[in-house]
Amino acid sequence: MNTVRQHARRVRDRSALRADRSRRDLQAMQVLAPLSTAYLPWSASALRPSAIVGILNEIVIRRRRRVVELGGGVSTLYLGRLLGRHGGRLHTVEHDADWAALLDDQLCAEGLREVVTVVLAPLAPTPGGWPGAPPEWYSEAELDCVRSGGPIELLLVDGPPAWRRELRHSRYPAARFFRDSLAPGATVVLDDIDRRGERDILARWEDELGITFERRFADGSIAVGRMPGRP
Ligand SMILES: C[S@@+](CC[C@H](N)C(=O)[O-])C[C@H]1O[C@@H](n2cnc3c(N)ncnc32)[C@H](O)[C@@H]1O
Repeated sequence: MNTVRQHARRVRDRSALRADRSRRDLQAMQVLAPLSTAYLPWSASALRPSAIVGILNEIVIRRRRRVVELGGGVSTLYLGRLLGRHGGRLHTVEHDADWAALLDDQLCAEGLREVVTVVLAPLAPTPGGWPGAPPEWYSEAELDCVRSGGPIELLLVDGPPAWRRELRHSRYPAARFFRDSLAPGATVVLDDIDRRGERDILARWEDELGITFERRFADGSIAVGRMPGRP
């Protein structure tokens, strides 16, 4: 009987969370209206609207100017448009050549090429993958320009793709690779924490970076952490 009640409660909690997420995403689309200036192919792989609002808020409130994003898409355009208006620079790392070209065309059409640089970095075996299951990560030789562009104030990790079981820890190398390039107090964001793989990664990053991430399940399923020190 107890188990039946517990199951019923879990079902109720899950549907309440789903309803809450939908409501927040609808509100977020209204907030994003001033930056929604062109049609974008928004798919299930994109950050949810409420997650994008959370990240843009962090940029405005904490005055983040140097931003790096792993995995480009709808988010790249919103980040670029905001940084174009508020001042700042974005490097977006993308593994897929066709997708990188499409993003680049759109940025060019919107006059954002001075603000956003799309860095094409195909996937390649990495020495620093998840223990026991080395995944592919972005080819590190292509990322020198990203690391050498000055201290990173916000790092958004939404790539490489990790939706298949065997790829579920593929975003893990990001903290090792960028750790020494982060500014004091820098913000680190990981998307898709409703998935087991990203939750595993978060637990390790908390140990390795010595910080605690805020888990925002209702606001787009992102985790937000800040490095020690004052920006
Ligand atoms: C999790 S997605 C990154 C999504 C991106 N940060 C956003 O919010 O739109 C990971 C990869 O999926 C691919 N991708 C992103 N958006 C896509 C779309 N609408 N259709 C097809 N592929 C997409 C890109 O190669 C990207 O690097």
